[in-house]
Amino acid sequence: MKEAIFEFKYKVYNSIDELPQEQQWLLQEARDVTGQAYAPYSNFQVGAVAKLVNGELVAGSNQENASFPVGLCAERVLLAAASSVFPKIPIETMAISYKSDSQKSDHPISPCGICRQSLQEFESRVGHQVQLILGGMEGPVYVIDSASRLLPLAFTSEELK
Ligand code: THU
Repeated sequence: MKEAIFEFKYKVYNSIDELPQEQQWLLQEARDVTGQAYAPYSNFQVGAVAKLVNGELVAGSNQENASFPVGLCAERVLLAAASSVFPKIPIETMAISYKSDSQKSDHPISPCGICRQSLQEFESRVGHQVQLILGGMEGPVYVIDSASRLLPLAFTSEELK
């Protein structure tokens, strides 16, 4: 028997002001896109904006439903839109932000488990990492080189070959 360890490095900035200019801009776009969320049940609005390697921008926001499981997270709305409008074009960077009626938006949120699985598959099928910028409306910001870092020991398409 031996023990194995997973670890990964990510950057922690004290605020949006410390980010390189292009990352600041993308996070601000994600903050703005929270206004397009449809989240009447959770009152938790999430916005995501991605810059593709071809320079195009794609946005997503969470879209809820009276039948709760039908709702979609901002990240998967974005991935579906990007794949549909710009098939096979890798995402360079995705910024994610949120606001809430009941709590402060002063720390980063991280993609849920289903979105991590979707991000992993997106990265592997286009053969390119998705850099994540995670931040609230204020407060610290995390920058992670590759979304797959958030899903160690992932179940992937490799298993189905
Ligand atoms: N949500 C997202 O859109 N992205 C996340 O990373 C976490 C959660 C949404 C799902 C639901 O509409 C609301 O936030 C509360 O869970």
